[in-house]
This record gives sequence, C-alpha cells and structure tokens, in this order.
Amino acid sequence: MKPLHRPVRMHIASVGVSKFCFLFSLAFCGLLLLLIPALKPPTRTLDLPQPRPQVRPAPEDPSHRVRSPGGSDHSDENDSAGWGRPIQTEGITKEIHGPKRGTDSKEGELAGGKGGRVSGSRSRDLLELKDIFIAVKTTRKYHKSRLELLIQTWVSQAKEQTYIFTDGEDKELRTRTGANIINTNCSAAHTRQALCCKMSVEYDKFIESQKKWFCHVDDDNYVILPSLLQLLSSYHHSQDVYLGRPSLDHPIEAAERVKSDGSVSVKFWFATGGAGFCISRGLALKMSPWASLGNFISTAEKIRLPDDCTIGYIIEALLEVMLTHTHLFHSHLENLQKLPTDTVLEQVTLSFGGFENRRNVVSVAGGFSLFEDPTRFKTVHCLLYPDTNWCPKLQHRHTT
Ligand SMILES: *[C@@H]1O[C@H](CO)[C@@H](O)[C@H](O)[C@H]1NC(C)=O
Ligand SMILES: *[C@@H]1O[C@H](CO)[C@@H](O)[C@H](O)[C@H]1NC(C)=O
Repeated sequence: MKPLHRPVRMHIASVGVSKFCFLFSLAFCGLLLLLIPALKPPTRTLDLPQPRPQVRPAPEDPSHRVRSPGGSDHSDENDSAGWGRPIQTEGITKEIHGPKRGTDSKEGELAGGKGGRVSGSRSRDLLELKDIFIAVKTTRKYHKSRLELLIQTWVSQAKEQTYIFTDGEDKELRTRTGANIINTNCSAAHTRQALCCKMSVEYDKFIESQKKWFCHVDDDNYVILPSLLQLLSSYHHSQDVYLGRPSLDHPIEAAERVKSDGSVSVKFWFATGGAGFCISRGLALKMSPWASLGNFISTAEKIRLPDDCTIGYIIEALLEVMLTHTHLFHSHLENLQKLPTDTVLEQVTLSFGGFENRRNVVSVAGGFSLFEDPTRFKTVHCLLYPDTNWCPKLQHRHTT
C-alpha cells in the first residue's frame, strides 16, 4: 500500500486526506465490482438467437410506406423483426420450443443459401389442408391447355378444397375429373370488370365455405401444398393476415373517387394475383362491407384498378392491415430460372412463362424432358409425389 500512498502524501501532505483517498478508492473498486454484473446482460444477449442478417424480400423503403392517418408507427420495427418473413417467426418459435429448428429461413434460402426442406410436422397438426380454400381463376379457353395440367398435378392432391372459377360450362371436364368447377357467369373478356366479377364470386364462395384460409391462384400456378400448409401454419386464421408477393417495389398510388366528383390519392401495397395470395378468415370477414355480394365490383370501380389491386386497396388502405411480403409466391412475370434448383420445392407457388416466353420456367431435373414437360409442373409434381402412377419410376436415381 505504501507506494500507492506516497505520491498522494507528496502532494497533499495530510494523513487524514490520504486515508480518505484510500477509503475512496476502496469504495470505487467496490462500485466497479457492483457494476460488472450490470454490464453483463448485454453480452449475454449475444448468445441468444439473433435475427439473422436477412436479405429484404423487396426493397422496402420505409418512406414509401405511406399510411393513412391512424396507421401504426411501429410497422418498420415489426418489419425488421420478421414481418416480411413469416417463416422466420416460425424458426424462432421452434428455437424456443426445443429441437428441430429450421436450418434457415425461407428467404435465406431464396437468397442463395442452402437449407434442408423444413419439415414442420409439429406445426402442421394445427392446420390441415382441408382448412384452406384454394381458388383457381381460369377462363374457358384455358380449360384444356392449362387447367387439365393442374388437375392432373397439384389439384389432385387437394381436390376437395380447390375450387376452379371459370366463365363457361364444361360438364365434360367436371364429370371426367371430379373437380369443383364453378361457373361464375362472368364475362370471358380479360377486362377489369370481368376479373373483378370472378374475384367477387371467389370471395363469396370462400365465406360460405367456413374454411380458415382463402388462397387465390391463377391457372398458370403450381401450388406446392406442403409449403403452403407450413407457411399458413405460422399464423392463426383469426389474425389479420394478408400474404403475398408485391408486384412492384413500391406501393401503388391510386386516385380514390369520392362523393361530389372529387378524388383523393391513396397509396397501398398489393399482392400480385398472378403469383397467388392468401387471406386469413379473420381478415376476410372484415373485408365484407367492400367485398361481399357484389360490393367488390363497386369497390373496384371506385379506384378503377384490377382485382388484385382492389384486394390490396380494401386491406391496406381501408382496413389498414399491412401486406406481409413474401417471396415464396411466383408469377410468370419473374425470371423463374433464377430460382435456385434446390429451393424450388420450398416455394409456395410456381408459374411458367406461357406462349410469350416458353423458356421462362423453373429449373428442375427429373423424369421429364423440357419437351415432355415444358412447364416443369409434372417434374415438380413427381419430385413431390414420386408414387404418382404416371411418374417415371427410374427417377430414384437422382433425387437431389
Ligand atoms: C409489433 O406490432 C405489435 C402490434 O401491431 C406491437 O404491439 C408490437 O409492439 C410491435 N413490435 C415491435 C417490435 O415494434
Ligand atoms: C351461373 O348461372 C347458372 C345458370 O343460371 C346458375 O345455376 C349458377 O348458380 C350461376 N353461378 C353463379 C356463381 O352464380
């Protein structure tokens, strides 16, 4: 202790003061000791599962997120905590509840990372396929070229809950395939009015069905049912959930016609119908004043936008519920070849380019050549359900 005291004494030359200093330094050391545990927790949190550095599903500039008055301010906080990444939320739940954590979030895989197929058997028993109402929108002229392929592939695995909304009678198809085909009596024209007419019928049939989820797809979509079930299992149907892929990287701006021939501008996100989207029953019921029994058509007229935009308008602009952005849904407008082969079966919906762009298909290898299976839907189907009677048996050679 002496060497420590000496310099002090040299300066102040008072024993009393040096004692005070000694006591003071003791107290200071004690205080430091007390502070150490207080400093610890921040270091400990580093051990907890941290939100993985994620690639944002879409360039979501928060400044674009113009909310109507009363819109929530913590949306961006929630966004970074997993809003746009539903699977992430599930991953965290799994980590908390024990074993089997998804190796990677879906978006992580999308971003090029790898990850095993997430087998969510645990969450699956909460929701069953029969709880999902799947609406397929088509038109009479595509019954042969598109619908038959769907009925042969994924629809065959979800026959009871898939409803095909078309615009012409086709008793032959109905009796031969046993599919639920609903003639909407809407015009076959590809106009806004005709499309909204079909969406309106889809909505009413869903409400009538008592099912927990409404999912809409087009006749050029392949629905990967296990992925769909897993995605929806991470939410509850009584929550307000609107899931889909935004077709733009910014919200759409529309002029909302109001009474006395004025109009105000509204901004909102919408899920592109061509990639498919899902809505929880809880939210669908809230949409009723603007969507049920033909109200959908008058709502669409008010903003003069297509069916999928109108859905977004009702949900985001009128009900102030935000679209949960997911990139697990795919439309023919994307470059489908860019989807990594090892993540194809983890997507929720797939599509194909069609006549204008025949090469725009997902890249999967299997028992069918591009010539035999130009859309790749049969190949995907055989990878998912290898026991299907028309799937090539020798496929077992390469399953990965
Ligand atoms: C997320 O949103 C909920 C409800 O909108 C809110 O209660 C919660 O505080 C938000 N979380 C964060 C991290 O902001
Ligand atoms: C379409 O018209 C037929 C014949 O009038 C009718 O039976 C059917 O219910 C109508 N469909 C819808 C969805 O209203």
